[in-house]
Order: sequence, then structure tokens, then C-alpha cells
Amino acid sequence: MSEAHGSLIKSPKQLIIMVFASFFVPLIIILLLMVFVNNGKRTDAEASAEALIKPVAQLNFKDASAPRELQTGEQVYKTVCAACHASGAAGAPKFGDAAAWSARLGKGYDGLLTSVIKGKGAMPARGGANPADISDYELGRAVVYLANSAGGKLPEPKAPATK
Ligand code: HEC
Repeated sequence: MSEAHGSLIKSPKQLIIMVFASFFVPLIIILLLMVFVNNGKRTDAEASAEALIKPVAQLNFKDASAPRELQTGEQVYKTVCAACHASGAAGAPKFGDAAAWSARLGKGYDGLLTSVIKGKGAMPARGGANPADISDYELGRAVVYLANSAGGKLPEPKAPATK
């Protein structure tokens, strides 16, 4: 009877074999493909995924009470103040511009530092720096660095007593 239909399956044994084959052959092919794909790309994909999540996955605990390296006036100037004082943006007295600074230097170190800490005109308080990053002492060093670039003769401020 089954011959009349031209079927490939001619016995219960063949049927069982076909059922198994139709289940396992695709499975094996899929597994082989997965191994193949993973082998080729594993390191690249992992490396780039790691690079992507690194800023989030990496916890950088900062000990707030740990002693911190104090920045020099030049370092503070470059990271914070130069944004305005290098170009004279927003009417800031320029680095090294004696004419722009001469009248301001008359305020003396304390007067100038107060202007920076509180902010003045277009200059935000502390030049916009976070007090957790830059202390008054470091701001003072930057004031000296900036003022002395333009004819000031301010002495380097005294380092705060370490606790
Ligand atoms: C956003 C721009 C900006 C940044 C950043 C900035 N300043 Fe200024 N600064 C100014 C401007 C504008 C003035 C002029 C303010 C005025 O007289 O109205 C000024 C003025 C000053 C003066 C003179 C103050 C006075 O009383 O005449 C000092 C000193 C000074 N800045 C130091 C600094 C230091 C140190 C930093 C970095 C910690 C800094 N500034 C960051 C814009 C800036």
C-alpha cells in the first residue's frame, strides 16, 4: 500500500529513524554554527563589550578623607581658569596681560582670592570648580600664578596645616 504512495518510509523502524534524524540533525547543525560563530568572534566581541561597560562596570571608590595631592597654581589654572583667562573670554583679564591686571593687583592677594571664591561678574564662584576637587589653598595658588604672570609679585600662599 505504502509503495503506491511512493513513500520513503516503509517500516516502523524507518519511521523512528526519520523522526530522530529530523529532530537531531538540525540541532547538531545549530550547535556547530554556534561554536563556529563564537570561535571566530569571541575575543573581539568580548573585548569591545568590556570596553563599552567598563566605565559603568568598574567601580572607582574615592576615599574622600584620604590625603590628596595638592595641585599647583599652574595645574589649577590649566584645568579651571584657562578656559576664560587664556583667551580673555567674557571680559576676563588675560593671562600675562599686565595692562588688564594692573588695576586689579591693587586689591592684593586676599581681595583677589575673595573675588575668585565668591565669583565676580561673569566669573562663577571658584571659577566653577567643585570645592571637593580644588581647595581654597589651591585656588590661592592659581590666583598667584595668574597675577604673577601679569606683573604681580604675590608670594606663594602658605600650605594649610595638615591634620
Ligand atoms: C567662566 C570664566 C572664568 C573662569 C573659569 C575663571 N575666571 Fe577669573 N575672571 C573671569 C572674569 C569675566 C573676570 C572679570 C570679572 C569682573 O571684574 O567683572 C575674572 C576676574 C578674575 C580675577 C580678578 C578679580 C578681581 O577682583 O578683580 C581673578 C584674580 C581671577 N579671575 C582668577 C581666576 C582663577 C584663579 C580662576 C580659576 C580657579 C578663574 N579666575 C576662573 C572669568 C573667569
